[in-house]
Amino acid sequence: MNQSSKFINPKFFYDQKGSKLFEKICDLPEYYPTRTEISILKRLKDELPPYLNDSFRLVELGSGSSVKTRLILDVLNQIQEKIEYFPIDISEILTESSSELQQEYDDLFITGIIDSYEGGLEFLKNYDDTKNLIVFLGSSFGNFTPVNGKEFLKKINSTMKDGDLFLIGLDLVKSKTILEDAYNDSQGVTAQFNLNVLSRLNDELDSNFNLNNFSHYALYNEHDQRIEMYLKSLEDQSVVISKSNLSIMLKKNELIHTEHSHKFKISQIKDLMHDTGFKIETIWLDENSYFALTLLSKNIKIK
Ligand code: AVI
Repeated sequence: MNQSSKFINPKFFYDQKGSKLFEKICDLPEYYPTRTEISILKRLKDELPPYLNDSFRLVELGSGSSVKTRLILDVLNQIQEKIEYFPIDISEILTESSSELQQEYDDLFITGIIDSYEGGLEFLKNYDDTKNLIVFLGSSFGNFTPVNGKEFLKKINSTMKDGDLFLIGLDLVKSKTILEDAYNDSQGVTAQFNLNVLSRLNDELDSNFNLNNFSHYALYNEHDQRIEMYLKSLEDQSVVISKSNLSIMLKKNELIHTEHSHKFKISQIKDLMHDTGFKIETIWLDENSYFALTLLSKNIKIK
């Protein structure tokens, strides 16, 4: 965060309280992405196996929602005798979610990798010959900037072996009302989630944000195809962030940017994946075309 344009990195959302609030968001009637993605994942029981011509290890970027992980494990479970599952996450939450899964599946072998996604994938690159089904769900990709997102996809591509598969969930462009409602829910959970970032700064960086002096503000920017989330200062105020040796002045109505959530058109997904070295195996959509699950392989260029 600096004096001119104020920005808080969205990674600060996910402390314990923020992660719980995010789980609540996923169940909100207005927040369609989670249930829509789950509805597509349910179809994969019949529709993914034709692409799995060998035994696959499941590699999940993020420890994931247990519901979604289970749906993919179920696909593998019906066609493989044993399943290896490698969740990659920076947080220790891995241990908790893994032990629950372990109890449910008999022939499941879990190796949690506590690392960045890039670090974990780099580790897997030369690990063995088993094919990997890498999954990145929840449209978290939309929270990257376009530049960082492209770099990220190239990185994934560079760590994939021939025959590996990559399944990515992406939220699609749709009406402004549906999008804005999803990020301005009537119960105010998204507002709590957004404001929680300030409590976290207060606790961890010894700052003195008064949460009553800020409000949640989210809008859909049609030109840039993204939800923009901000905290709006409700009055002229100054805040001290002691541990960072920062003192910031905020004007009434000034915005602190906290998150971008990009939405995609199918044509853009195709271009993006092509540009980052992937071959599209298939794109699964829900009945309203709200959300896309895209299955990719490494595009082997024959010279
Ligand atoms: C994690 N990510 C995909 C969510 C999104 O929709 O961009 C985060 C979120 N922010 C507000 N609501 C949900």
